[in-house]
Amino acid sequence: EKGNYRHFMAKEIHEQPEVLGHTFGHYLDLAQESLRFGAAEGIDFANATRMTIAACGTAYYAGLVARYWFERVAGLPIDIDVASEFRYREAPLTPGQPALFVSQSGETADTLASLRYCRAGGQKIASIVNVASSTIARESDVVLPTLAGPEIGVASTKAFTCQLAVLAALAVHAAHARGRLSEDEVREHVGILAEAPGYVADALRLEAGIERVARDLSHASNALYLGRGTNLPLALEGALKLKEISYIHAEGYAAGELKHGPIALIDEDMPVIVIAPHDAVFEKVASNIQEVAARGGRIILITDERGAEEVGTQSAETIVMPTVPPMIAPIAYAVPLQLLSYHAAVFAGTDVDQPRNLAKSVTVE
Ligand code: F6R
Repeated sequence: EKGNYRHFMAKEIHEQPEVLGHTFGHYLDLAQESLRFGAAEGIDFANATRMTIAACGTAYYAGLVARYWFERVAGLPIDIDVASEFRYREAPLTPGQPALFVSQSGETADTLASLRYCRAGGQKIASIVNVASSTIARESDVVLPTLAGPEIGVASTKAFTCQLAVLAALAVHAAHARGRLSEDEVREHVGILAEAPGYVADALRLEAGIERVARDLSHASNALYLGRGTNLPLALEGALKLKEISYIHAEGYAAGELKHGPIALIDEDMPVIVIAPHDAVFEKVASNIQEVAARGGRIILITDERGAEEVGTQSAETIVMPTVPPMIAPIAYAVPLQLLSYHAAVFAGTDVDQPRNLAKSVTVE
């Protein structure tokens, strides 16, 4: 039931602090400040040399964020691809190595086919699913559930942030198993992860301001999303969310690729949404913002206080987020992107929960 909300999507966006709390609660032992990954013991992270990740759409973008975490925090190289490519790529597989599949429904045909390909190659199969009774869950050696509850809106929102939650906790678990994090450092990370639901609640309080920005955005026919580092997959996710529910053509791009082509598109009619918390790559993104501003581009900047100060707000509409620890920033920054596309779609008058041509679960390839 939608309760007091106009759409399931709005309800599901607002449920995130709660369902993230459930999901983290499943994997973090807050009293002991430790991780609960008994189920993941089947994956030998200590001796793994690579891990494959395959998924589709939004779940694939969750995997792209996780690549940064697994490589940086756990020192584990990641091969990641969209499942529809991976299944036919004939990638050579090393038996015994882990392969991870991410799927809300657990029924996506290409993701399932990729899983079977890795199974045939003798790999250890782990999956992150929201539907515990799904085919992907049944065919996995290790099942790590997201506790997002049923997701009715076709556009994935709470399932995405809960996938990020499990992936972040799993990366910390892998880092510990690989001797990359001490007990103390694990405790510290657990403390940080546990704060994520609170930051998501803070981000939700920015809704009125985001709705105002969305009104203008809803008149655009194209939009560009830019990010660097973990904000690149968020840019891709933001663009996907906008196009699927508002039918505005949107592209996500690595900010550093701007001058390699897409900058040719910049003019007064092109909104450019930049996802740029004041993190390690902020200075680089700030110079990309100047490049857009110099060409009269309409910038919508999603940043924190420090980032807003450094960029100066003359040429940008700015959504000022709370200052979030880098590891959980992708979870918090998903929220303004969801709200932006939700409100743009509501202004555009589209069918938010049942966008044309889309199915919630894609069981054919
Ligand atoms: C986007 C969206 C889709 C799904 C994709 C994978 O909002 O919902 O891109 O993420 O079809 O679906 P699952 O996660 O069920 O495998």
